Amino acid sequence: MNQGELARIAKAMVAKNKGILAADESSGTITKRFNSIKIESSEENRRTYREMLFTAPGAAEYISGVILYDETIRQKTKDGTPFPEYLAKQGIIPGIKVDTGAKPLAFFKGETITEGLDGLRERLVEYYKLGARFAKWRAVIDIGDGIPTSFAIEANAHALARYAALCQENDIVPIVEPEVLMDGAHTIERCEEVTITVLQTVFDQLFEHRILLEGMVLKPNMVISGKKAPKRAGPEQVAEATLRVLKRHVPPAVPGIAFLSGGQSSEEATLHLSLMNKAGPLPWSLTFSYGRALQDDALKTWAGQPANFAAAQKQMAKRARLNSLATTGSYSSSMESQAA
Ligand code: 13P
Repeated sequence: MNQGELARIAKAMVAKNKGILAADESSGTITKRFNSIKIESSEENRRTYREMLFTAPGAAEYISGVILYDETIRQKTKDGTPFPEYLAKQGIIPGIKVDTGAKPLAFFKGETITEGLDGLRERLVEYYKLGARFAKWRAVIDIGDGIPTSFAIEANAHALARYAALCQENDIVPIVEPEVLMDGAHTIERCEEVTITVLQTVFDQLFEHRILLEGMVLKPNMVISGKKAPKRAGPEQVAEATLRVLKRHVPPAVPGIAFLSGGQSSEEATLHLSLMNKAGPLPWSLTFSYGRALQDDALKTWAGQPANFAAAQKQMAKRARLNSLATTGSYSSSMESQAA
């Protein structure tokens, strides 16, 4: 393990004014996204879509890294440049999703365990050769009647820490992503309570597994009401609760926290991030690692039509720029109506 190199990459991933584009949807998930706009999920359509995102003019200055999927890291731009090479040339660090998904946890109804540890060491060696310098593993915690159980939280935190150790052993920075889902009708208070336990358990496990905190990035959910809650907490309350939890449970040795968007609208995700950064100074850098909140507008605009390619890229660049402003707390909703 090269501690200096890990710390250097982790810092670059959360560099000032920049954030991460999560474009690591598995074939199943991207098919769902394509179905929503009635595009066939062929390998070529997936390649074209990712090329549209990665080559969006003006976006690179706001993007520190891109999370790729196993298929995507092996694909090329139309003119034959492998995606990881293309990204690196733009100053963007290529990353790779290495978990193989959340599967039902036996005997724990409604809960999941994220799989993908078998053979991970060997896969990391290959991904490093393909250009990946960071990785991602997502643990999923759902809130509902009687869940999450502490057993499911511990099992997932343990797997996250084992993954993180294998990454660091191979000079790859782990993004540690424990996602408390915002599906459901729970209150923001319930989300806060669960997020506290999850983060505390994850950092306990990271300590037990001897993880170098300086060489990792945390990717948490925000503390937010469930999507179906009868009364949802407003943006100021989300920002305040999220900061309170993070300050109490994330050591300052962690260089950065890059949020997932988790089903928030694009504008909500940007506003929440901006409000938190406005409330600084903070002990870590606070940025985005959004999937849907960066891509949704671009995906709808593209709709699989070559004629819409450039217009979709403008949408991608616009969200990247607005989220970049949010990393310094200088975004405001009125900027949404300005030209893409
Ligand atoms: P969303 O921002 O769409 O939640 O995706 C981020 C991600 O990488 C989830 O694992």
